[in-house]
Amino acid sequence: MEHLLEMRNLSIDLYKGKRVPSVKLVEGIDLNIGKKQNFGVVGESGCGKSITCSTIMGLLSYPLSVGKGSSIRFQKADGTEVEITSLPKSELRKLRGKEISTIFQEPMTALDPMYTIGEQINETLRFHTDLNKAQMREVALEMLRKVKIPRPEQILVDYPHHLSGGMLQRVMIAIALINNPRLLIADEPTTALDVTIQAQILDLMNELRESYDTSVIMITHDLGVIAETCEEVAVFYAGQVVEQASVDAIFHETAHPYTTGLLRSVTSLGGERKELYTIRGAVPTAGNFGTGCRFADRCDHCMGICKEKPPALTEVAPGHLCRCWLHAGEAEKEAAV
Ligand SMILES: Nc1ncnc2c1ncn2[C@@H]1O[C@H](COP(=O)(O)OP(=O)(O)OP(=O)(O)O)[C@@H](O)[C@H]1O
Ligand code: SF4
Ligand SMILES: [Mg+2]
Repeated sequence: MEHLLEMRNLSIDLYKGKRVPSVKLVEGIDLNIGKKQNFGVVGESGCGKSITCSTIMGLLSYPLSVGKGSSIRFQKADGTEVEITSLPKSELRKLRGKEISTIFQEPMTALDPMYTIGEQINETLRFHTDLNKAQMREVALEMLRKVKIPRPEQILVDYPHHLSGGMLQRVMIAIALINNPRLLIADEPTTALDVTIQAQILDLMNELRESYDTSVIMITHDLGVIAETCEEVAVFYAGQVVEQASVDAIFHETAHPYTTGLLRSVTSLGGERKELYTIRGAVPTAGNFGTGCRFADRCDHCMGICKEKPPALTEVAPGHLCRCWLHAGEAEKEAAV
C-alpha cells in the first residue's frame, strides 16, 4: 500500500427505524493520507467531517454505521495492513492511542475530572507499553516538556480543572503523541481557544511534527487554519468531497464555488476577519439533498443542469479534483443529458 491510509467509497448510514430506509450522511468519500502528510478536512458545520474521521478510529456507534462497500485500509507500524471497517473491537482498541490518536475541540470532555493529569497520561502508557512507574513518570515529564508546559512536575499532580484551556489542549497533544502514533486526527483542536492561544497551539503542532513521523488529519471549518498547517486539503459539503487539491491550488486556483465562499469567510489567524462574509442559505440536511448538485440552492453560478444531475468529482488539473458542472468536460455533460 502506497499510502498510510486509503479510504474508498466510504458512506455512513443513519438508521431511521425498521420501516424507513436509512439515510446516507456521507457518501462516496475517497481519501488517501500519505506518510508524514498533513491533510486538511474543511467545511461548514454538519458537512460530515467528524463522523468521516470517527470511522477511521472505529468510533461510529448506533444509530450510525459504515455503509456497504466502504473500505478504510491502514498500514500499521510493523508494515502490515488492516481493514478498519471490519476489525474486531479489541483490535481497534489496540490501534487507538497507539497507532492512531485524536485531539478534540473540548479537552475538558476528553479528560476525566476525577484523575490527575499524571494518572491520565499513565493510563495511555500502561495500556500500550511495558514501562514501570518510574519510567512512565520520566516519559510523561519529557512529553510535557516537549509540548512546552511550564512546571511539568506540578502539572502531573494537578487535576484538569486547575489548567487553562490552552494548557489542557497541550496536555491532550502530549497524550495523543506520547506513543508516537502513525496518524493523529485533530478535530477542531483550536476552535474553543482564543486567537492568541490558537496560534500558539498551531505553531506547537507544526513544530512537533518535525520530530515525529506522524501524519495529521486537521479537521476545521477555517481555511486559515488549513493554510497554516496542511499540504493537501479536502473540502466537504453536505456529506461529499466537493474539491480536493494541494493547499496552494485551493487558495490560488480555486475551482468550486463553495470553496470560493469559504475562502471569503476565512478568519485571519491574527484574529480579525478580513471581510465579514457568510455564504447565503444553509447546508441541506441528509435526506434532503435533492437530485442535482447539493450546493445548487446557494450557488451564484447555478445553471439548468445543476438542479437536475449531480456533478461527479473530476480532475480539473493534475491532482486537483472538483465536483461542479462548471468544470466538467463536454463529454461528461453530454453523457448526463
Ligand atoms: N449520532 C448521530 N445521530 C444522528 N445524526 C448524526 C449523528 N452524528 C452526526 N449526525 C449528523 O451527521 C451530519 C454530519 O455530522 P458531523 O458531526 O460529522 O459534522 P461536522 O462537519 O463535523 O460539523 P461540525 O463542524 O459542526 O463539527 C450532521 O448532519 C449531523 O447532524
Ligand atoms: S454544479 Fe452548478 S450549482 Fe453546483 S457548484 Fe457547480 S455551478 Fe454551482
Ligand atoms: Mg465536527
